[in-house]
Amino acid sequence: MAALHLLLLSLLCVLLVYQCHGACVEVDSDTEAVAGKGFKLGCISCKRRSEVSGTATVEWYFRAKGDADFVHIYSYNEYGPIIEHEQFLDRLDWNGTKRSNDIQDASIYLLNVTFNDTGTYRCFFNRILFFDNYENISLVSKVIHLSVVAKATRGTASIVSEIMMYVSIIGLQLWLLIEMIYCYRKIAAAGEEALREAANAEYLAIASESKDNCAGVQVGE
Ligand SMILES: *[C@@H]1O[C@H](CO)[C@@H](O)[C@H](O)[C@H]1NC(C)=O
Ligand SMILES: *[C@@H]1O[C@H](CO)[C@@H](O)[C@H](O)[C@H]1NC(C)=O
Ligand SMILES: *[C@@H]1O[C@H](CO)[C@@H](O)[C@H](O)[C@H]1NC(C)=O
Ligand SMILES: *[C@@H]1O[C@H](CO)[C@@H](O)[C@H](O)[C@H]1NC(C)=O
Repeated sequence: MAALHLLLLSLLCVLLVYQCHGACVEVDSDTEAVAGKGFKLGCISCKRRSEVSGTATVEWYFRAKGDADFVHIYSYNEYGPIIEHEQFLDRLDWNGTKRSNDIQDASIYLLNVTFNDTGTYRCFFNRILFFDNYENISLVSKVIHLSVVAKATRGTASIVSEIMMYVSIIGLQLWLLIEMIYCYRKIAAAGEEALREAANAEYLAIASESKDNCAGVQVGE
């Protein structure tokens, strides 16, 4: 019993540790920022081979809405973070992988968003994987189309899904209620039927008994 407990506990621990350290999931960035607030520009690129050690450097580019070209706005490499463009001076913070050159999360945090920040962002991972005999260099990039709004609007998808949630909750409750009433009636009906049948059976038994009695009386006469 104790051994089983220990086994379960250690399994749980392994799961927790795995959750904390292991799993890299490529979540897409949000795309709607609120003017005056902060916004996390998400960019995650998981290593194809998580067991192979690697290093990565990151570059961010920005193309303002209506502009033709991308400008270099941010770098993160072995020397740390560098803001490369004056529009973003003092407004970008690293939100990605910390204390490691093996970067899989290159997210940055944009402070005091303005409408001028509307446009397309692009992050580039320059990754080197160290295999036994060779190195594999790869370039991965992701694109984020950012729109800036005066205050948070909710996406239609989220509104629709909330309505669906309520509809399904209410629907389920109603269905449960109907089912309960139906079952109750059925049980009640079955109960009545059983009672009636029992009564009938009793009546018949009594009847036949009295008939027997009568027969007995007749025989006796
Ligand atoms: C991202 O950076 C901002 C600004 O420095 C900070 O407030 C926020 O907590 C950071 N978020 C994460 C997940 O590191
Ligand atoms: C961002 O906004 C806050 C509060 O409005 C202000 O104190 C801060 O100086 C601003 N930062 C920048 C870089 O504009
Ligand atoms: C936004 O851009 C316009 C035109 O380039 C400039 O005049 C304005 O000062 C900018 N606003 C902010 C908040 O940076
Ligand atoms: C590096 O790895 C990628 C993905 O596994 C592969 O497509 C590519 O051919 C590799 N390149 C080299 C030079 O080994």
